[in-house]
Amino acid sequence: MDPLLPPSRPDAAPSPARLVVLVSGSGSNLQALLDAVAAAGPAVYGAEIVAVGADRDGIAGLDRAERAGLPTFVCKVKDHGDRAQWDAALTEATAAYAPDLVVSAGFMKILGKDFLARFGGRIVNTHPALLPSFPGAHGVRDALAYGVQVTGCTVHFVDEGVDTGPIIAQGVVEIRDEDDESALHERIKEVERTLLVEVVGRLARHGYRIEGRKVRIS
Ligand code: GRF
Repeated sequence: MDPLLPPSRPDAAPSPARLVVLVSGSGSNLQALLDAVAAAGPAVYGAEIVAVGADRDGIAGLDRAERAGLPTFVCKVKDHGDRAQWDAALTEATAAYAPDLVVSAGFMKILGKDFLARFGGRIVNTHPALLPSFPGAHGVRDALAYGVQVTGCTVHFVDEGVDTGPIIAQGVVEIRDEDDESALHERIKEVERTLLVEVVGRLARHGYRIEGRKVRIS
């Protein structure tokens, strides 16, 4: 087994899993998680959001967290000497909230070595394409440009590559002739929000194991 991906929460947890959610933008996936926790309650959903982190300020994602009364932290690359120092600072800021799972929900930075060493096997990312096709920052645009007829979203664990970690779940979205990047991304995000809420809840409630590229939810 990859040492960065140890089994995590292999047994159903007695108390709600602690989530730290990382965002860079509008935070609609964060909002879906907030709404799911509020609707079911942490005990039934299986998880609670304990903090929201970002790589920039002035974003709607942070406003959503503040409206929900959650602590937030901002860790900007430019405030640190280099990427490694930024990664170490992000790791410490996240670790302060002792998360069981970290959810990268539209967080537009590649997580570094320290972060993976501390949280490997416990970081869930959502990507707006059907991996392994169209990884990277422009998954929606690249799928449209390629001319595929279906695309979608992938919820996966983060490893040291870019959008290469073990896949947990995927959702499919058909591409329409009239789609531009923004219209297609909005339809993908509708599917993505539902999928993310469902996957995080299942991981938290049931526990899971990562066996090679397979994720087994107990
Ligand atoms: C999502 O589509 C995510 O996959 C991508 O950026 C989008 C974030 O949306 N990386 P939001 O900030 O959750 O609204």
